[in-house]
Amino acid sequence: MMQRRLALQALAGVGAVSLATRATARPAEAADFAAAIAEQPLLAPFKGVDDATGERACAALQLQGRWPAALRGRFYRNGPALFERAGQRYHHWFDGDGMVQQFVIGDGAVSHRGRLVRTAKLQAEQRAGRFLVSALGTHIEGGPPISGPDALNVANTNALEHGGRLLALWEGGSAYALDPADLSTQGPVAWRKDLQQVPFSAHPKVDANGHLWNIGTFGPRMVVWHIDPQGQLVDAQVGTSPFPGGMVHDMAVTERHVVVPLPPLRLNIDQPSVGPRRFALVPGEPLRVLVMDKSDIRRQRVFELPPQLVFHVGNAHTSADGHVHLSFVGAPDARFLDEQAVGLMAGHLRPASDNRLQMAELDMASGRATLRAFDGLVEFPRMDPRRIGLPARWLALGAAWKPYPGRGGGLLHGVQLQDTVSGRTARWDYGEHAVVEEHILVPKPGRDGELDAWLLGTVYDARRQATVLNLLDAAHLEDGPVAQAVLPYSLPLGFHGNFTPS
Ligand SMILES: [Fe+2]
Repeated sequence: MMQRRLALQALAGVGAVSLATRATARPAEAADFAAAIAEQPLLAPFKGVDDATGERACAALQLQGRWPAALRGRFYRNGPALFERAGQRYHHWFDGDGMVQQFVIGDGAVSHRGRLVRTAKLQAEQRAGRFLVSALGTHIEGGPPISGPDALNVANTNALEHGGRLLALWEGGSAYALDPADLSTQGPVAWRKDLQQVPFSAHPKVDANGHLWNIGTFGPRMVVWHIDPQGQLVDAQVGTSPFPGGMVHDMAVTERHVVVPLPPLRLNIDQPSVGPRRFALVPGEPLRVLVMDKSDIRRQRVFELPPQLVFHVGNAHTSADGHVHLSFVGAPDARFLDEQAVGLMAGHLRPASDNRLQMAELDMASGRATLRAFDGLVEFPRMDPRRIGLPARWLALGAAWKPYPGRGGGLLHGVQLQDTVSGRTARWDYGEHAVVEEHILVPKPGRDGELDAWLLGTVYDARRQATVLNLLDAAHLEDGPVAQAVLPYSLPLGFHGNFTPS
């Protein structure tokens, strides 16, 4: 009985997405974009790939600086990459089919391979020669009926090796398993037979013991996933959300809790598939933070913070007084979703939302919350992976702080390390020719300090018209990259990634 209920609830969630994208699309964005990219070279990583250019490989990237012998492993990234078929271009950056990038680092060499995730959706659309199913921001006419969440799954948000599998992750459906050896797609993961297509979100957290925690939402329901270090399902608890139907993108864990920001975002289904106010914060609604007990998610507390859109958390931990501390990046409006991410597809760089790093202190006894905000436009908070769910002082962030002309303010041009205790920052500016992607912290083998680490991240360099993999020393960020690997091509700008040591 439970099996059938879960499957039906998952389908109910997709029904909402399908309904929400029924409005009429606006054509001509492919032409808009082609004209814009000729004027603004920083738009190149948003052009996207096709079925042929979605397969890239280079066995030996051009190396500069000194790649340390101690850094060995596989660095993955994922992001939307295929935006056009049969002359039709998606309207929203989030709509594109996912492409996973793999950099293999070691033995004095760095190689790259990139492949589109061959989801059921991508394969059907490749056969048809056109888009078939509606996406978050684009309505597609005349497609087949939606059979479940994975009919829409573009697997475009994150890539993570765990339990011997490489997972390409998306917010609204299954994780897709890929072969780490060649990035070939193995198929959607069913953690248990009765849990097929139940959403497994894109921001799982792997704790210090190798246990993976994740969430998924479908309709009013929320599932909390617990996967052991071998990649086997321990538990999938199903509960209800205190703000059903909103966006739930990221989550945090402490030793005892799962912590989920619930921004008051609604999709306005009466608005066209692109255009102002399709995505908006609901007036008068707060940012809720749901804190659930890992052992029984029905034991929960809901905190209320000032209204804002939150995509990403940094970390959470519990202090000796029992308070839960959560770091996250939030903006006071939904302009990123509603304007920036739409503009990128049409070739317009629009003003950024005021994305700030914030620290919430949640008093589990009283239900009161306090909030502290740091100055500066940032996104993509990452931390020492060994301290996930534990006290940690430093966050690595993508950042923009210089008024370089023509960028619209929203493209990141640097990286920043933030001391969340003292407020101190260290920065490196890649310059006005750069579009900076998420950088992650990779601990140096045998060292324990949070800054005994490298920062690893990709940047689109408009001067080279190429993507560059950068390595920086976290203890000397202001010195810039200690090593670089230059690709002989550019990659679509991605969202998130992770490193697996070898
Ligand atoms: Fe994300």
